[in-house]
Amino acid sequence: MIHPASIQEVLEKCQIDDVVRDFVTLQRRGSNLIGLCPFHNEKSPSFSVSPSKNIFKCFGCGKGGDSLHFVMELENLSFPDAIRYLAQKYKIELDETVTSEVQKDEQKHLESLYLINDFAVKFYAKQLWESERGRNIGLSYFKHREFREEIINEFKLGFAPESGNALTAEAVKMGYSLEYLQKLGLTNSQGNDFFRGRVMFPIFNMSGKIIAFAGRILIKDTKAPKYINSPETEIYVKSKTLFGMNFARKMIQKEDECIITEGYTDVLSLHQAGISNVVASSGTSLTRDQIRLIKRLTENVLILFDGDNAGVNAAIRGLGLTLEEDLNVRLVTLPEGDDPDSFIQKVGSQQFKEYLDKNAKNLVQFEMTHLLKSAGDNPQQRASILSQIAVTISKVRNPLKRESFVKICKDLLQIDENAILFEINRHLKKDLEKASSERDTNEPTPILEFKDSDYDNLSLGDEHQERDIARILILSGNQYIDENKEVMVGHFIIQNIKDIINGFDHPLYKRVVELFLQHSMDGIAFPDAAFFINHEASELKNLAVSFTISPYTLSENWEKKWDIFLSQKIPEENFIKDASDSLKRFRFRKIGKLIRENLMVLKKMDVLQNEALYMNHLKLHLRLKEAQASLAKETGTVVVG
Ligand code: UTP
Ligand code: MN
Repeated sequence: MIHPASIQEVLEKCQIDDVVRDFVTLQRRGSNLIGLCPFHNEKSPSFSVSPSKNIFKCFGCGKGGDSLHFVMELENLSFPDAIRYLAQKYKIELDETVTSEVQKDEQKHLESLYLINDFAVKFYAKQLWESERGRNIGLSYFKHREFREEIINEFKLGFAPESGNALTAEAVKMGYSLEYLQKLGLTNSQGNDFFRGRVMFPIFNMSGKIIAFAGRILIKDTKAPKYINSPETEIYVKSKTLFGMNFARKMIQKEDECIITEGYTDVLSLHQAGISNVVASSGTSLTRDQIRLIKRLTENVLILFDGDNAGVNAAIRGLGLTLEEDLNVRLVTLPEGDDPDSFIQKVGSQQFKEYLDKNAKNLVQFEMTHLLKSAGDNPQQRASILSQIAVTISKVRNPLKRESFVKICKDLLQIDENAILFEINRHLKKDLEKASSERDTNEPTPILEFKDSDYDNLSLGDEHQERDIARILILSGNQYIDENKEVMVGHFIIQNIKDIINGFDHPLYKRVVELFLQHSMDGIAFPDAAFFINHEASELKNLAVSFTISPYTLSENWEKKWDIFLSQKIPEENFIKDASDSLKRFRFRKIGKLIRENLMVLKKMDVLQNEALYMNHLKLHLRLKEAQASLAKETGTVVVG
């Protein structure tokens, strides 16, 4: 039992930002800090930390509380374990009475699992360092592989003796339940040890608790697998675990990059050589959960492949996920026959790093080189390369990044850019059709920088503009547009789009505009960003939060994109230029859309049957064309047809 005074001491010492930072990268936003919520999946940060109140709160999923809640929730810890974790972090010695054998049995389920793993890791380490077999076989094996004692200790490596049930017998003697030993996979169904005659690699969770083991075979027996692993349990979910994350976490944040290797020994060797921002995927392709784990710490990933190339094909397929999650990925294949472990031991960390820098490729380059190698000169196979690369590029969310990939692709394949765009568009359209029903209203699917007609195909062009308008309204709707403080941005926009407000396709953006329209008609003050951030409707809140976090990213892209026909420069402040540019684009697009719709009606209509109606539509057509022409003149756009 932990003494209440100790608990008090720990709770008083805790700094929420400090505790959270071990798991989440935070950025300052006013007096608070924000980051990506570790409790739910999100792409724009709604997780907020208040150092002054010493609490956290996620505006997306609603989770909130103090440091204790945070670690209990995140790491699935019991109350005492969370206190122990925090005490360790703040180097507070706990006044704690040792639990009795009987109490051990009574302890909660999860705690027992951790306890038994703790016992096992000590048992295996003791075997490694103190038993004769352990020293002669296990320790000498590690030494032979040039692992130094401090790294063996840090990673708590061990040795599982060959004899039938050494661990199980001792555990049971100590009062640990056989049922739990079996559940954890330490003991098999016959009551014997599962790991025998192997060197042991404990697998840790983010906070450094042991959740599983991997045992490596020592003899070269081709029939037995090289590694055997603990089964999945409540505390060990393979797809959510990255080996070495607990050791690498801090350096990943510091270096702003995560190196991913295939094997346990790669992580050890790199650590030993002073490269600590490294984890292992354990030989399988990355899962979405693992990617999100990394993304809490950094957006930059460097993936190292063993030189045997065996896993590359399978790996490439899995890498699309990293694009979907918008990570910056670089990939390196090590020299033939080497893995990171053997290579760094051979050349040292300096040359190792140089090799990585020189050979790292982005995903498209990497995939392309790989595919080109196997396709040779065969034109048919080359054509299929394009299609495969297009799948990859179509997964890139960031339009600028996508553009640069298209360029790389063009240079490498030496084909017409339009052919590439066409292929990408084809895949994009397929994906859109698939996803359109479940599309998240807060995240408009990004579009490629295509010709006008392509937008029509994808029918997404307006969504960006509508989002742009919603963004300007929320962020600067209540600011004055002129020096005399007579006209507000909100009024300016509402005046300009009142007549086409029904043309809004996107319900959420339309809602924002309508809200401003209502305020304008009622003659009451426009809401500010805080109003939306604190709005009870979560979709409005999320929208506002995403705008506040990166208010200008979209408009930067847009500016680039529309530069071509925004000949006239509007001076003054950014948001004014922003507002009037957005409006012009929006009107222009909407008018085009109305013209097409109207023409469809006209085509279907029989002039003799209802002349008046026909004339009305014709007049509307002329008016719209006129409006379009004048807008085009203003923006320097050429209108065709
Ligand atoms: P490797 O065969 O590259 O092993 O598999 P390694 O880590 O480099 O080990 P050494 O250096 O040969 O001792 C890469 C990873 O694939 C998983 C393990 O996670 C391993 O680290 N693996 C491999 C298994 O789970 N089982 C196996 O039988 C083999
Ligand atoms: Mn390897």
